[in-house]
Amino acid sequence: MDVKSLEVWYQKDHRKLPFRETKNPYIIWISEIMLQQTQVESVLPFFVRFIKKYPTVKDLAFTEEETLQKDVEGLGYYRRFRNMHLAAKKIMSDYQGIFPNKYKELIELPGIGKYTAGAIMSIAYNMPFSALDGNVIRVLSRYLGISDDMRLEKNRKKLDLINQENIECATPYIYTQAMMELGALICKPKNPKCDMCPIQEHCFAYTNDQIESLPVLSKLKEKKIFEYITLILHTENGYFLRKRDEELLKNMYEYPQFEAESIYSVLSELENQDVSIELLDSRQLNYQHVFTHQIWKINVYHVKVLSGKLDDWILVEKQRIKDIPMAIAHRKIKLI
Ligand code: ADE
Repeated sequence: MDVKSLEVWYQKDHRKLPFRETKNPYIIWISEIMLQQTQVESVLPFFVRFIKKYPTVKDLAFTEEETLQKDVEGLGYYRRFRNMHLAAKKIMSDYQGIFPNKYKELIELPGIGKYTAGAIMSIAYNMPFSALDGNVIRVLSRYLGISDDMRLEKNRKKLDLINQENIECATPYIYTQAMMELGALICKPKNPKCDMCPIQEHCFAYTNDQIESLPVLSKLKEKKIFEYITLILHTENGYFLRKRDEELLKNMYEYPQFEAESIYSVLSELENQDVSIELLDSRQLNYQHVFTHQIWKINVYHVKVLSGKLDDWILVEKQRIKDIPMAIAHRKIKLI
């Protein structure tokens, strides 16, 4: 690969982003975790606030889990931040708060896989370790004309080896960022800007008119649809919420919801558990939220709690609701 042209292009044309102003491995780590599955534009305001509030590993390690969840509310994929918190604590206990600078140590930290370890090693420490993300997969598949299905781990492994060979002949901190930047700005999934590409000349897909067909990514499974009856449970002193224990959105708060056919089956289910409620408004309000692997169809009812409660319901004052971590699927429900 024409690494030199790629690096020259990056140094001239890359976006000036706050996490590129530093070699601080802690800051690089935070940015890489936030950028997983999330666009740069969405990450930026969160990132800037986050680094101001938690300028060091120590600040992050000593915050409360719930405070951290609230700080990242809206970014999605919240497990990454629970892992981030655990990793910060581990860096405090095992490395006296000094960010590890060995691949083998990084990969042992919660939430740091091959990609993130490679990104930190190359960007922060300028060491030749491959960081293969979706952008890099797209660039390499097109450039080399590889038509293997990149949803398969074994095929990604092959690309990872190629990326490793490339970075060993490059300036690692520039190469890793240049590949990502090329994928984000030029070699985009749709309508790539091949006429502006610094490595167009030897690109297989460009030369053979296969830009649209590469990379090959087999179709994902259909998303599962869940229909919920979701209750806004009004009491004299606030609302009942529930702290989720499920893997999806773990530890975030939600309005209690039930997989049920109708509000009436929920009412009778609750009555059987000695909870008496009254519909405040029989109009049903519908919301929908699309996750990576599932879709929630939420039918919302406002109800007054006359007596009783379920074990996992937690009373929250109305003005406190805005301060607790809540998934956007429920945050967007309007209260009356
Ligand atoms: N996506 C993931 N890491 C990135 C980075 N360092 N720059 C731009 N986009 C990214």
